[in-house]
Amino acid sequence: MPRPSQHKTPYFDALRDYVDSGTHSFHTPGHKQGVGMHKRLRDFIGDNVLSIDLTQIRGLDDLNQPEGPILEAMRLAALAYGADYSYFLVNGSTAGNQAMLMTALRPDDAVLLPRNSHKSATSALIMSATRPIYMAPEVDHDLHVDHAVTPETVERSLDEHPEAKAVFVTSPTYYGATADLKAIEQIVHGRGKLLLVDEAWGPHLHFHPELPPSATSVGADACVNSTHKLLAGMSQASMLHTVGPRIDQGRLRSTLRIFQSTSPQLVLLASLDVCRMQMATEGRALLTGALALARDVRRRLNEIPGVYCMGPDQIGKPGVAGYDETRIVITVKDLGYTGYEAERILRLRYNVQVELADLFNVVALVTLGDTKESIDALVNAVQELAREDRPIDIYSPTGVLEKRLKRGSYKIPPIPELVVTPREAFLRDYVEVPFKKSAGRVCAEVVTPYPPGIPILCPGERITQETIEYLRLELKAGVHIQGPVDKKLGMIRVLP
Ligand SMILES: Cc1ncc(COP(=O)(O)O)c(C=O)c1O
Repeated sequence: MPRPSQHKTPYFDALRDYVDSGTHSFHTPGHKQGVGMHKRLRDFIGDNVLSIDLTQIRGLDDLNQPEGPILEAMRLAALAYGADYSYFLVNGSTAGNQAMLMTALRPDDAVLLPRNSHKSATSALIMSATRPIYMAPEVDHDLHVDHAVTPETVERSLDEHPEAKAVFVTSPTYYGATADLKAIEQIVHGRGKLLLVDEAWGPHLHFHPELPPSATSVGADACVNSTHKLLAGMSQASMLHTVGPRIDQGRLRSTLRIFQSTSPQLVLLASLDVCRMQMATEGRALLTGALALARDVRRRLNEIPGVYCMGPDQIGKPGVAGYDETRIVITVKDLGYTGYEAERILRLRYNVQVELADLFNVVALVTLGDTKESIDALVNAVQELAREDRPIDIYSPTGVLEKRLKRGSYKIPPIPELVVTPREAFLRDYVEVPFKKSAGRVCAEVVTPYPPGIPILCPGERITQETIEYLRLELKAGVHIQGPVDKKLGMIRVLP
C-alpha cells in the first residue's frame, strides 16, 4: 500500500471544513466561535483561533476513541516518527509519562528510573502504586548539572534488582545530554524488560541526522515527546509513541482516557497535526537552520571571558553519549553570578528571557523559531552581563552560598532512603513539622526545585540533614520550590 502523503493535515482540514460549513452551533464552548467572548480577549486572539476552538462534534472525531481525522493524523505522526502507534496528548508529556508508566506497570511492580526524572514520573509512581528503584544519573559537579544515566548504571541496577519490570530513562536531559539509548535498549530488552523513554526534550531528534538518535529509532517500547517544547506545537501539545509488540495498546488507550480531558482543546490537536506535517516535509531543512544558529551562538558565547557554553565537547563524559546542540547552557558562575541572578538581569535589563535558571547556569533554547536577530539579542545580552561590575549589593546571594560556590562544595545530596512507597506516603495522614527540624522524619510530599523539576525529596523518603541544608540553600539563592504545601519550606508534611 502506498504511504500516505505527509503533506496532508487531516485534522486541521476537518476543523476548517466545519468553519466553512457555516453550521449553526448549539454546542460547547459557550463563546460560540468567539461571538460571546468579550472584545478584550476576542480582538487580541482573533476570530480564526476562536472559530476552531470547538468541541468533538460530528466530523471532528473523539480524542479518547478516535476513528476519523484524529486517527488519520495520529497514523501520519507514527509514520513520521518511525513508530507503530502515536497518540496525541493535550496535557503535555506529563500525561504521557503518567500513561506510559501506568500502562507498563502493575501495583507493587518495581521500576528503575533516574533520580532526575521529571515530577510527572513521580506522580505516576503515586498513582500506579509501584516501587521506584532510583538510578543515579551522572552529575557534573563543576557545572552543577545532571546528565543521563549510563548503560553501566542500567546494567548494574538490573543485576541488583532483577525483579524490575521496566526501565524508564530521561533523554535528552534538561541540559541537552542524551543517553546511550542503543546500548540501554540492548541491555533492557536482553533481559526481557520494557524500555520507556521520557523524550520530552527531544521531539525534533528524529528529523535530523546531526542530532542524537531518537527513542523510536533505537526501538524503545514507548516514549513521550513534548512537541510544544522545541517544535511548533502549542503549549501542552505532546505525543506518545510506541514501537513493537510489548506495550498493550488497549490498556494504553484506556489509561490515556484517565489522563486526558473529555473536552480536549482542538486547536492543540490542529497544532500537532500541522507540526507533524511541517517536520515530515521540511524538518531537516528547518533544523539545519536552527543548528547553524545554535552553533554560532555557542561559538560567540564561548569567546566571552568568564562564560562557558557546553556543547559536543562534553560527549564521552559520563552520562553524555550525545548532545543536542540546540540547547544553549550558559554557565555564568565564573562571572560571579548565580544562574538565578543572571536570569533576572537578562530579563530586567536586556529584555531576554531564558528557559531555565539554576545555581550556576541559565539555559536558552534555539529552535526553528529563531532568527539571526534573536540570537544576536541573546549574545549581546550575555556580553553586557559579562561586562557589568557584579552588583553585589542588589543581587548578591547569601555569604554562605558564595563561600560554598567558591569552595565548589555545593553538591546535590544523595538519594534518601525509601521507607514506604510514594503512594503510601502520599495518601496516608500526615503531620506538619518545621522543615529545619525534620531530619529523620519520613517525607509525605514531593519537594522539587523547579526548573528543572528534579525531586530532591519524594513521598516515602527519609529526610536527612544534608537534604535540609541543600534545599535551604536553594531557597536562599532564589529557586522556586514546587510540590510542598509550604513552598517556602518553613513547614513540611511528614508521616506521623
Ligand atoms: C524531562 C521532562 N519530562 C516531562 C516533562 C513534562 O512535560 P510537559 O510540560 O509537556 O507536560 C518535562 C517538563 O518540563 C520535562 O522536563
